[in-house]
Amino acid sequence: MAELIRAKIFRYNPDIDEAPHYETFDVPYVEGMVVLDVLHHIYEKCDGSFAYRWACRAGQCGSCAVIINGKPRIACRTLVERVKPLTVTPLLQFPVIKDLVVNLERGLRRIARIRPYVERVKPPSRPEIIPRSAIEPVKGVRECIECWACVSACPVVGEAWQEFAGPIVHRQLARLEFDQRDVEDRVKMAFIEGLYDCTTCRMCVEVCPKEIDIPKKAIEKMRAIAVQSGLGPLEGQLPFIEGIRKTGRSVEKQTPPLLEQVPDVVQVPNPIDEVAYFTGCLTDYRLQPTGFSTIEVLKRNHVKVHIPKSQSSCASPAFRTGALDVAKEQVKKNVDVFEKLGVNKVVAGCAGCTLTMKTDFPAIMQEIRKEEPRYRVYDLCEYLVREIGLEKLNTGDLKEIKMTVTYHDPCHLNRGQGIHDEPRQLIQLIPGIKFVEMEEADRCCGAGGGVRAGRRPLSMMLARRKAEFIINSGAEACVTECPFCSIQIGDIMRQLGYEQIKVFNVADLLAMSYMQGAKL
Ligand code: SF4
Ligand code: SF4
Ligand code: FES
Repeated sequence: MAELIRAKIFRYNPDIDEAPHYETFDVPYVEGMVVLDVLHHIYEKCDGSFAYRWACRAGQCGSCAVIINGKPRIACRTLVERVKPLTVTPLLQFPVIKDLVVNLERGLRRIARIRPYVERVKPPSRPEIIPRSAIEPVKGVRECIECWACVSACPVVGEAWQEFAGPIVHRQLARLEFDQRDVEDRVKMAFIEGLYDCTTCRMCVEVCPKEIDIPKKAIEKMRAIAVQSGLGPLEGQLPFIEGIRKTGRSVEKQTPPLLEQVPDVVQVPNPIDEVAYFTGCLTDYRLQPTGFSTIEVLKRNHVKVHIPKSQSSCASPAFRTGALDVAKEQVKKNVDVFEKLGVNKVVAGCAGCTLTMKTDFPAIMQEIRKEEPRYRVYDLCEYLVREIGLEKLNTGDLKEIKMTVTYHDPCHLNRGQGIHDEPRQLIQLIPGIKFVEMEEADRCCGAGGGVRAGRRPLSMMLARRKAEFIINSGAEACVTECPFCSIQIGDIMRQLGYEQIKVFNVADLLAMSYMQGAKL
């Protein structure tokens, strides 16, 4: 008898059903089958009234996009996992016509508003030859198949579609902006359509069947043009960028910085490794205890730590908002400081800093001197788990902490760097910790992409959604691996009256355990 897989399918016929419901179907499993095969089986063998869309069956038309096990995907290219139950629901943000078929009209109207075609003063008199050089700039943003998966997944669209036109629209605006033939001011249009509302959370990249990097190749590039033309950055973002330009820090000094309180080198007996510590602005100026914790954790694991005092901002706020001149200065300065140390590993405990140093720094250095930085950058959790190794970590000195904790995935660590399991593994090394997974742990907290600085009300709307999941998890503390996320989550918890739910970075929790459960 054929092996069966169980498919839970969203059903709703507004003409006859009082409410949406799910139906379960057992479908014969065939090696290599895709979700669209399951939908075909249900239609052909179980219920001929079942409604779903498809056309090309080859990942080219975009019509078969649905939500598969919680994430928007195209059904014809998503393999069925034999061991996992399968749940299929319609795309979010659109009204259901029937079952998995949604009405895309609202989205199509948003696209029509930008006149999504090459606008010219007058049509060419004869067929044109498009030179290769004119095609290069639009590569990377032109492969869209209009499946709407990105719009369905985007947290900002979910909260404020009225203001933010969504990833598909900004991708098309970038595609036209980079097309030499188009005569419209597409960046101005993008600005009006919410160019600065994107948190650069990369959810759209994760779900896009064509792997289009909308935040990097469309949003950030258009923001850089907006800055040149005086449209950007937003008023609230200016102090951070000016701070980086003038002082090398994105925030003002309020209390003694971490770098003024620590030695140049933290020695350990018989070191197993040697790293340089990049603090980032927030740990240096706002979350000094997290900096001390990071050093403590490295020390406890027999790692010698260099802490260069002349390091400065990674300039992530400048990169994300388009202020590239400010950003480039910081890249040169930091690369010089860390290369002079002669240490080939740089560790940081901030998702934004590590992503910027792993992706933007190499690109800028290639541009400047045709050579990437001569050291490798690690997130702290990545370093501890992948470089030292879980089995070699000092777990003997970890003392019991009785606490129920959950973990928030910083977008720039999880989707940006593929670091998802490591923080969870480290948290669960601590005796006494009860770890609970919150719903949508990878949902954006709303802080990134300059949105907290420039669009605070929108940022807090996104944070509120995150807070609901944290509260519902029943955890006493939310742990994360990004000072920016931890400040944002701490703020929303206080705003909602849940200040009893503490927020820690992974290093804080580990250091607390090493220091016999002492409060930090
Ligand atoms: S990066 Fe995030 S906020 Fe920006 S368009 Fe993509 S999904 Fe939306
Ligand atoms: S950008 Fe990608 S996810 Fe968005 S509509 Fe186009 S193909 Fe689909
Ligand atoms: S049927 Fe065309 S993309 Fe899936």
